[in-house]
Amino acid sequence: EKGGYPHFMLKEIFEQPRSIMDSMRGRLVAENTQLTMSSIREYENRFKNAQRIIIVACGTSWHAGLVAEYMIEELARIPVEVEYASEFRYRNPIITEGDIVIAISQSGETADTLAALELAKSKGALIFGVCNVVGSSIARATDAGAYTHAGPEIGVASTKAFTAQVTVLTLIAMMLAEKRGTIEKSALHQLMMEMEQVPAKVEKALQLDKEIQAIAEIFKDSSNFIYLGRGLNFPVALEGALKLKEISYIHAEGYPAAEMKHGPIALIDENMPVVVIATKDNSYEKVVSNIQEVRARKGRVIAIVTEGDTVIPEMAEFVIEVPETHEVLVPLLSVIPLQLLSYHIAVMRGCNVDQPRNLAKSVTVE
Ligand code: F6R
Repeated sequence: EKGGYPHFMLKEIFEQPRSIMDSMRGRLVAENTQLTMSSIREYENRFKNAQRIIIVACGTSWHAGLVAEYMIEELARIPVEVEYASEFRYRNPIITEGDIVIAISQSGETADTLAALELAKSKGALIFGVCNVVGSSIARATDAGAYTHAGPEIGVASTKAFTAQVTVLTLIAMMLAEKRGTIEKSALHQLMMEMEQVPAKVEKALQLDKEIQAIAEIFKDSSNFIYLGRGLNFPVALEGALKLKEISYIHAEGYPAAEMKHGPIALIDENMPVVVIATKDNSYEKVVSNIQEVRARKGRVIAIVTEGDTVIPEMAEFVIEVPETHEVLVPLLSVIPLQLLSYHIAVMRGCNVDQPRNLAKSVTVE
């Protein structure tokens, strides 16, 4: 059942080229710049005229929501807010009929997410679901939706569900951009061509496994980790930290890299591993300065960089290269080494990676 892998989590990490592909299948044909998602077509006018999109989710799904916020605002120019479902539902939130609420949930059973969308529904918002489990409570409670096709996720720590969510949300962002005329046709075509290449690039990133295992060996006894990223890689930093916490029980924090100097920098010394996601994008130069700040305080930098980077290897202690892609697609690649790093550290520490203590696969109580 684990397909020859020692744990479901590792199997699921390695399934990602396939699950990303399955989540795009029938929805994206780059060759003729064609995007299809019947649920979006059905509510085309609501989406076109949306005043605002509110994303509600918990945990890893909330991180996928943060990635979507950047993508939808960048490509489709619709204001997006991302809310923890548990906070949103108890805040007497302001919701109007012009709002679209996207609920993201792998299991489709998360109590807080379900309650948040029911609340938004009662105020007249259009509710759109991005769920993995077909026929789940959240999927049934929504007005429309698009399934992720990740297949069953058994490992408690979410991996392939995250990349499938980001994939579907990317397609949604592209479709909204197309319908609202906020992207040039040639730019859209270019982005779609890159999107089609993602599964093969994820496959390539997975080949870093041995290299990452060696890094895990060096840091497995650390008691703290910091993860830093900017822009689209900020949610990836949060996700990397969450993965490490939940399966290895190492304390880890994710931060937007620039926030470091507003407090967390005080934690950095020669014992602190700092994972910096420093791929080539418009915040690259800024992230390079952040690496220098960490180095100046003797922090041990593990950098995730774009293939061929010649600058960061000069300053970081460890460098992990992921393939180059379109800027908005980077999270689908940069998250892979972080999943593998957590996995290997947890295994080396003797943790039960598929069923970490105190956690359940779906959180059906608030
Ligand atoms: C993290 C993890 C949890 C879930 C969260 C939401 O690895 O598994 O943080 O992401 O409980 O679950 P879903 O997506 O099922 O609503």
